[in-house]
Amino acid sequence: MNADALVVFTPSGRRGRVPRGASVLDAARSLGVDLDSVCGGRGICGRCQVTVAEGEHAKHGITCTSAALTPVTETEEAYAADRGLAAGRRLGCTALVAEDVVIDVPPESQVYRQVVRKEAEARAMTVDPVVRLYFVEVEEPQLASPRSDLARLLDALEREWDLHDLSVDPIVLRSIQRDLRRDPAWRATVAVHDGSVVTAIWPGFHDAAYGIAFDVGSTTVAGHLCDLHTGEVVASAGEMNPQIRFGEDLMSRVSYVMLNAGAEKELTRAVRGCLAKLTAELCRDAGVERTNVLEVALVGNPVMHHLMLGIDPTELGGAPFALAFDAGLRLHAGELGLPVNPGARAYVLPCIAGHVGADTAGVILAEAPHLAEDVTLVVDVGTNAEIVLGNRERLLAASSPTGPAFEGAQISCGQRAAPGAIERVRIDPKTLEPRVKVVGCDVWSDEPAFGDVRVTGVCGSGIVEVVAELYLAGVLLSDGTIDGALAARTPRVAPEGRTFSYVLWDEPELRITQNDVRQIQLAKAALHAGCRLLMERYGVDRVDRVRLAGAFGAHIDPVHALVLGLVPDCAPEGVTSAGNAAGTGARIALLDRCARDEIERVVRAVEKVETAVEPRFQEHFVHAMAIPHETDPYTRLGERVPLPAARSAGPPAGRRRRARAAERRAS
Ligand code: FES
Repeated sequence: MNADALVVFTPSGRRGRVPRGASVLDAARSLGVDLDSVCGGRGICGRCQVTVAEGEHAKHGITCTSAALTPVTETEEAYAADRGLAAGRRLGCTALVAEDVVIDVPPESQVYRQVVRKEAEARAMTVDPVVRLYFVEVEEPQLASPRSDLARLLDALEREWDLHDLSVDPIVLRSIQRDLRRDPAWRATVAVHDGSVVTAIWPGFHDAAYGIAFDVGSTTVAGHLCDLHTGEVVASAGEMNPQIRFGEDLMSRVSYVMLNAGAEKELTRAVRGCLAKLTAELCRDAGVERTNVLEVALVGNPVMHHLMLGIDPTELGGAPFALAFDAGLRLHAGELGLPVNPGARAYVLPCIAGHVGADTAGVILAEAPHLAEDVTLVVDVGTNAEIVLGNRERLLAASSPTGPAFEGAQISCGQRAAPGAIERVRIDPKTLEPRVKVVGCDVWSDEPAFGDVRVTGVCGSGIVEVVAELYLAGVLLSDGTIDGALAARTPRVAPEGRTFSYVLWDEPELRITQNDVRQIQLAKAALHAGCRLLMERYGVDRVDRVRLAGAFGAHIDPVHALVLGLVPDCAPEGVTSAGNAAGTGARIALLDRCARDEIERVVRAVEKVETAVEPRFQEHFVHAMAIPHETDPYTRLGERVPLPAARSAGPPAGRRRRARAAERRAS
């Protein structure tokens, strides 16, 4: 019999010989297998759980039973009684190798692991946090060897965990003496950030580490509290951004700063206050001590990014839109006023350009176009649309000034997506009668169950649908004119001054006016032109995959988006929602330390296209004013959806359109 036993670990497939009597944890370490441990093999943390893969493994020449490991120990029995241990599970730190054995390491026992995301087409998320906990036994102080508490703590970390040359956050020094003495056996748990800095300390064994991913939007701020061990989101919450009182959109907030000396401090205070409130709410909801939050990751558009960091955003208010800095930023979470562990760190994702912020970096991280073979177009629609196009060869990014029309602003009956807002619209092409669905009600308005649901306005996705449906029903000409001739056929088309409007809802009356249609045309033409510009730069005239990110993108129907010509022609099944990709990107950066280097590397290589100074943008914009497009017949969409023959109100309208387009670009 060989003195050493053959040990094979799955799923890594790593194998090698270890002395019989070695612990499974030591075997894993010697073979480079990822097996977790916080307590350092003391049978306390339960992170080292493994299972013997019983049976015949012809491939490895091993037939193994549970007897391949030494019998269950008292430590395991105590752990099972205290915290529970599933049948067949062993603690790798106390189970010793007795025979040749195949050992399975379940996902929860791996430090580095992948979490499958629910969203279709999304890549798995890796859990490999930048901060880790280490349990140690520190030597008691001796009169004979007068070494400091810190020196003995660092000795223990070196001896037990092979952690060398650590520095220590001064915040830890304030409590180190008290914390070490609080455990009679001089045991403590420390948090080590990035393998180099001790950032927190607890007396005894401590096993809770959490992080928060924040997506700081101009309208809403969302936070996700995540367990840094499992990657699981344990609580999510959102708040309206309190900066709204200084201006609805970003540029009005920048103007407020320009006009009021020192106002940036007020805006910074407001957004930080919101982040602090969300932190408290998330911890309360999940029953997590705030001091267990050790890490924070944040994304936001350039203006939000600057304001939350306390940087005056004035330069972002006008050309050349210079950022104060664009790199990823690592700082103390306390510097952002967050009520978390005083040693907690924050990571702010890098910005890309003056109009393309850390939120887009988050979108790239979540959607990973830079890892794909296919060319993907990712669009995050807000008051500014951020557009990313490319694949593993090359990535381009731009922003387009869509304005707030897609959020319901500048539309006569527009409103934010809230209960009562029309979000879905269908128009019968024969009768021209509409039916709608509103936020907060699952049935269509022509179903009896709809009853007397209160209808209050039309939100962004509803506006896209109504304009697209009006076009499909022949009420809108391809140049966006409401066809007044139809007034003879239906009272739904009603005169309004020198133009016509469409009565979408009777009580209260909600009209889609000619001006509303123009606002949507302007917004969609800006977005479309940005996409075209990037495609032209990249050298492709079509894309097979379009991902719509953000809340608007999540609710918008792909067919209607294409009919409107919001994005370039594509088969409808190729247009999908990416959900809250910016927030997901923040979560990825929170949970996976390598993702931070990855996104910084990718962002550095992104080619930035400034739409404001691109002469071709104007040309694309003018063509994109038509529905779906003046020169592109949208044949791929046409294969699925019969499109009406192009009709327009003639040259005068065309001239008007160009004039409006020019006016918009000039402003
Ligand atoms: S390493 Fe902690 S219980 Fe095994």
